[in-house]
Amino acid sequence: MTESKVSGKYVLVTGGAGYIGSHAVAELIENGYKCVVVDNLCSSSYESVARLELMTKHYIPFCKVDLCDREGLEKVFQDYDIDSVIHFAGLKAVDESTKIPLKYFNNNIVGTLVLLELMEKYHVEKLVFSSSATVYGDANRFPNMIPIPEECPLGPTNPYGHTKFTIEKMLQDLYASNTSTWKFAILRYFNPIGAHPSGLIGEDPLGIPNNLLSYMAQVATGRREKLYVFGDDYDTRDGTPISDYIHVVDLVKGHIAALEYLDAHSPDGLCREWNLGSGTGSTVFEVYRAFCKASHTKIPYEVTGRRPGDVVNLTVKPERAQRELKWKTELDIGVACSDLWKWATKNPSAFQLKGLKAEFAG
Ligand code: NAD
Ligand code: WQD
Repeated sequence: MTESKVSGKYVLVTGGAGYIGSHAVAELIENGYKCVVVDNLCSSSYESVARLELMTKHYIPFCKVDLCDREGLEKVFQDYDIDSVIHFAGLKAVDESTKIPLKYFNNNIVGTLVLLELMEKYHVEKLVFSSSATVYGDANRFPNMIPIPEECPLGPTNPYGHTKFTIEKMLQDLYASNTSTWKFAILRYFNPIGAHPSGLIGEDPLGIPNNLLSYMAQVATGRREKLYVFGDDYDTRDGTPISDYIHVVDLVKGHIAALEYLDAHSPDGLCREWNLGSGTGSTVFEVYRAFCKASHTKIPYEVTGRRPGDVVNLTVKPERAQRELKWKTELDIGVACSDLWKWATKNPSAFQLKGLKAEFAG
């Protein structure tokens, strides 16, 4: 049993109203943890927290706070007895980050800095961080490193990736300054997909979705006309790029495994990176077919030109997480597509037109 469960202390989940964070809260509560959610709702809705309470039959303390708001965040540390932090909060759109990099640097890097300073002040030493396989950049420049191991040299290619890279370095430097205290798990993952099997929580993209599955779901529910497949002339089995897709429920189980690993290694300090992935790459057409099958629809599509920044194969090597965290994926892309379809059909506008609004929260 982990320290936080024994002590009844809280796990602070930053970004807990968002896509991955809300699934993590569900999983944490199911596993007996107490959570407090901090989120500024810049890209999510309080409705997800309300749904979580419905699902788990637990009260979930929610604080509408921006991580850059030191005073607001400090109050959370004062009001709740926090044992550890799972840090999801951040902006994540690659293309947007190239247009407004300063906003990304401020939100992601400064937000994390404030969080770490308060963790130090309040002696909260355990943190699980949502990094991204985007820190590897185009790993295909090292052909013998596909699937990508944690040892692959890093080389992010966009401002979003630079924020993740910088935060990883901040954590490593902080750990090095006091190796007996800090316990950091850096989790790198690429394409979380799917939704909670209840159909009550799922991804709620703002505006036009960037990601393949979110876009396809909106075509299947009639919100968009057709899918644009960004290139079918790659050197792969069907010409479309290969990525490592992971069911969001598997992914959040990996976060809990990491938290447990940090606990098991107390009182020693630790800073370690783990890839969370299936290790099995799927092409865009394979995902397309899986989603058509799950949704019983023939989604119209058109092949267009390559999207800048896309690379041929982004499959991660998950053996370190399997060996050390005793974690591996269990749900394939077929299950993820079915769960996504359930979420999309039950909530055609996601959270956006529903129930409680952000201004009433927190
Ligand atoms: P999301 O946008 O659904 O969730 C992020 C949450 O953080 C949102 O609820 C948002 O309102 C909140 N937030 C953002 N900035 C904040 C701030 N300054 N203060 C307080 N709250 C803030 O995104 P997600 O897909 O759930 O991603 C969660 C994390 O995982 C992010 O850090 C993202 O970079 C990382 N990640 C995501 C993916 C992916 O494809 N979804 C892949 C790899 C890594
Ligand atoms: C997957 C494949 C597209 C949309 C991104 C970020 C990454 C990480 C996860 C946070 C690609 C193709 C897509 C569409 C398409 N995020 N595609 N038509 O690019 O692998 O990863 O999200 O860390 O940093 O870059 O995910 O879902 O956008 O694309 O053909 O409308 O689907 O070309 O091959 P990606 P994606």
